[in-house]
Amino acid sequence: MTSLWLADRIATSPASGTAEDLPGFADVVVAGAGITGLMTAVLLARAGREVLVLEARTVGACATGNTTAKISLLQGTQLSAISAKQGKRVAAAYLDGNRAGQDWLLSFCASTGVAVQREDAYSFAQSERGVAAARAEYEACRAVDLPVTWESRADVPFAFHGGARLAEQAQFDPMPFLDALRAELLASGGQLVEHARVQRVSGGRDGLRLRVAGPRVHAELQATQLVLATGIPILDRGGYFARLKPSRSYCMAFDVPGEITRPMMISTDSPTRSLRYAPVNGSERLLVGGAGHTVGRAKHPGDALAELEAWTVRHFPGASRTHLWSAQDYTPVDKLPYVGPILPDSNTIYVATGFNKWGMTNGAAAALALSGRLLGKRPEWDRAFASWSTRELRGLTTALTANLEVGFNLAKGWIAPTAHIGQHGLGRDAAGVVSGPPWHLQAQCRVNGVEHRLSPVCPHLGGIVNWNDADRAWECPLHGSRFAPDGTLLEGPATRGLTASS
Ligand SMILES: Cc1cc2nc3c(=O)[nH]c(=O)nc-3n(C[C@H](O)[C@H](O)[C@H](O)COP(=O)(O)OP(=O)(O)OC[C@H]3O[C@@H](n4cnc5c(N)ncnc54)[C@H](O)[C@@H]3O)c2cc1C
Ligand code: FES
Repeated sequence: MTSLWLADRIATSPASGTAEDLPGFADVVVAGAGITGLMTAVLLARAGREVLVLEARTVGACATGNTTAKISLLQGTQLSAISAKQGKRVAAAYLDGNRAGQDWLLSFCASTGVAVQREDAYSFAQSERGVAAARAEYEACRAVDLPVTWESRADVPFAFHGGARLAEQAQFDPMPFLDALRAELLASGGQLVEHARVQRVSGGRDGLRLRVAGPRVHAELQATQLVLATGIPILDRGGYFARLKPSRSYCMAFDVPGEITRPMMISTDSPTRSLRYAPVNGSERLLVGGAGHTVGRAKHPGDALAELEAWTVRHFPGASRTHLWSAQDYTPVDKLPYVGPILPDSNTIYVATGFNKWGMTNGAAAALALSGRLLGKRPEWDRAFASWSTRELRGLTTALTANLEVGFNLAKGWIAPTAHIGQHGLGRDAAGVVSGPPWHLQAQCRVNGVEHRLSPVCPHLGGIVNWNDADRAWECPLHGSRFAPDGTLLEGPATRGLTASS
């Protein structure tokens, strides 16, 4: 499952440091080399800070290299949801932050020669059921002076029951953008080390001690400040894992014989249909996204995926799939991103998360807000991006429901597998199952003829993983950690892989 953006990239990636280059001390360590981490690092390096970026996998390996990469201020139903929960002033500040992020990103792309396509964006109803949500988004946008228009028709080959349109938004391939950020970081004296995962952090105001691990590195280093741009924060302090819901979705690229829809579109009703085109070697591909599920909680994600592909082929006859991939992002309980100190009184560790699948502008805004904070120049709009605020009380009911679900899934994971012993075997390749009594649970899968037996206990907080048949990966239903068939950690708040079964 490699994204259109990450396929065939080995030869084009500019060099970065290796594990041997790891220094013993760094002024600022940024963990994570997606849009948020790399842009924060560049902004800090520009201001003369000494920055080291540590990336657990490779640049763009998680959400940023697997996104749909629409750079839009019209974002599905985001503004109506934020206005309803937090009021118009906060929604206006959220929009200002996203606009600042979008402006920065577009001007950086213009100055570094990164290709961007300017297209209109739509939040549209694909059935009568979606009209009220599309209308509410239109109203919420107008209320904060975002110049959307209401369109009752659109030139698209699928059902369209009206929608909000925002002219002149943008889309791109995110990897050349990350490459350009990396190049500037290295040129300005910053360092980037891939395959180096921050595993543990101790210390406080007098300095931080980080344990870093990877295939070729096991080291301790010291830092003055740490930015966790890791998607969901990897440290439990602050309880972010309890304030975020991890949601995984799928994207597909298609060769299409006929016309490809020009604008970027996302439906306001379910199942989600997200569309854009992408220029590839002189021609174009259609990208379609959707089939989302809470990580680790879908029985057969492959079913929703098959439905999405069938929908595409029905509306774009002759469409032939060239790429299939998936990624996850985190939905905050109070609808706003969490960007700032990990704890209210911390000035050493910072987080940036909760972009709800709109991180091209939110990640850029987070980088502006975080670097501003570290450099003593906070933007005015950053009240909509606080990591701690009373506004969170407005998300309390959602948080309680989400955590009840977490508790339910924790208990279910430990108790339910006994009921399935003998019912699910590993009859076919790419199958996986958790079985056994609670005192001896075992995760077993077979992929490409190789069988793996593991402990299914998630090293984060003890959830029991489930098998995702579409991704061929183990997923924790509690807070979204994911593991390869052999137990290697892929992403999430866990910092270690699954252990071998005893
Ligand atoms: C399917 C999908 C489609 C999307 N489409 C859009 C879109 O069209 N427009 C839009 O605006 N947004 C979109 N988004 C959202 C957007 O892609 C994300 O919000 C954004 O990429 C997040 O960037 P990030 O840098 O914060 O996180 P990531 O890109 O996930 O980067 C985090 C990095 O941290 C690394 N890491 C993790 N743990 C550690 C550790 N312990 N030590 C060191 N490194 C670590 C990871 O390996 C990873 O590389 C989409 C998201 C998904 C899932
Ligand atoms: S991700 Fe938290 S317990 Fe697995």
